[in-house]
Amino acid sequence: MSYRDARVRRSAEVLARREFVGTGCLSLLSQAACASYSTKPSDTMPYTQLTEELNGLVADATVLYQKLRHYHWNVSGPHFFALHQQFEVLYTAWADAIDDLAERVRTLGGVPVHTLASVLHLATLEEDESVPGATEMVRRVAGDLERLHVRISDVLDEAEETSQGTADLLNNILDHVEKDLWMLGAWLHADDASQPLANAFQEVPAEA
Ligand SMILES: [Fe+2]
Repeated sequence: MSYRDARVRRSAEVLARREFVGTGCLSLLSQAACASYSTKPSDTMPYTQLTEELNGLVADATVLYQKLRHYHWNVSGPHFFALHQQFEVLYTAWADAIDDLAERVRTLGGVPVHTLASVLHLATLEEDESVPGATEMVRRVAGDLERLHVRISDVLDEAEETSQGTADLLNNILDHVEKDLWMLGAWLHADDASQPLANAFQEVPAEA
């Protein structure tokens, strides 16, 4: 499939979802392409599981976002200035990722998780009621990113079968997660070389 064909197919998928919610297949596509990808409501069912899984990612990302704001506000000690700023960089990036994930849910015909109660119900990450030390804050953020990496990768496996646009988005988020893990790991090693990160992300990416 050529790049243009792929774009047409993706546009058709989007329009098919809009048709499901009543907008109709009106533009962008040839009649043939439109007819090929227009769907009955029952044809949208494969996206139901994907939108639920994306909502799980929205929930986990929202818990991490709030944790980063907590750490941004409450970090103290000799690393204050660096970590206060870095936590803001991270939560700002996650605000964008949450928005992209939620709007992807809408694009696929679902409803993004939008209450704090439902966020906590769907999330696998845990809130942090404590105020840990600065190094522990970084360690906990890295741990959450590792768990998010696993969950995003699981959803990506399914998206690659059913929704290339979703797969592209998840791959982009994974790139950022891996880079952040590398940087946080480097900071932790510099700060406390005797206690490296616990699990898989010991590999240093080739490029920053
Ligand atoms: Fe601030």
